Amino acid sequence: MARPRTDLLDPDKIKEGLKTKRIGTKILVYDSTSSTNDVAAEYARNEQNDGLVIFAEEQTAGRGRAGNKWLGGRADSILCSIVLIEDKINAELLSLTCAVAVAEAIDKPGRSQTKIKWPNDIMLNGKKVAGILLETKSLPISDSGTPVSKSKIYVVGIGINCHQKKESFTGELKRIATSIDAESHSISDRILLAKRLLSSVDHWLEVAANNSKKVIERWHELSIQLGHRVTLIFNGARFAGRCIGIDPEKGLILQLDTGGIRMFDAAHSAITR
Ligand code: BTN
Repeated sequence: MARPRTDLLDPDKIKEGLKTKRIGTKILVYDSTSSTNDVAAEYARNEQNDGLVIFAEEQTAGRGRAGNKWLGGRADSILCSIVLIEDKINAELLSLTCAVAVAEAIDKPGRSQTKIKWPNDIMLNGKKVAGILLETKSLPISDSGTPVSKSKIYVVGIGINCHQKKESFTGELKRIATSIDAESHSISDRILLAKRLLSSVDHWLEVAANNSKKVIERWHELSIQLGHRVTLIFNGARFAGRCIGIDPEKGLILQLDTGGIRMFDAAHSAITR
């Protein structure tokens, strides 16, 4: 019989000793919900909810990028969504910043075992251990026809596989997905991991707002694609080339096989290799 989990998510335990300035000042934990991104999007209607984090032990309709489902057993993962009312960081930089923050939160201190596969896959030993789904909501428009604020509303959905056993990944997932426990890696206590995650996101958002170059530098260190050949679909067309860097506004930079350099934004691209 499976042992009961000792690391059930609890807002008070996650908040204990948490020294973040912006992220996690308000934390809600749902036992079960459709998708934490949907719950967060409701809260994001109120600008006061900047930094609010929604966790769930289970999602009945979790979603990933490109219309994929995000699956997971009960209390096996970190499933959370962060509300950001943002006026300094653009969507492309935000996506890179969150990838760096999640990769660092999962890694063992002082190691660089977790890597980023652009745009938002977090990889451990060559397999995906976490994913990020960044969604944007439009702001209400005032009577005069202009938006009520220059800020943009984002919901950052993060899924980290923690306690899944190797055997629980079946079919195609067996080859491409993993969990922290399956790799015997880092912190598998989800309360500690949640604390590290919120601290890391808080830290990297502040860095991004003040010095985007530092985010780019760290992204370069963590990227598994930098210097390697990448193929992707952009707006329905296939491109191949060597990854030579990342641009904080325009996305992945490829030296194309066909000649020339071109940039690809995360929202319209899907990596094929
Ligand atoms: C991906 O790699 O495709 C992104 C996966 C994002 C999954 C998380 S789990 C919490 C949040 N709620 C969702 O429905 N999706 C995100």
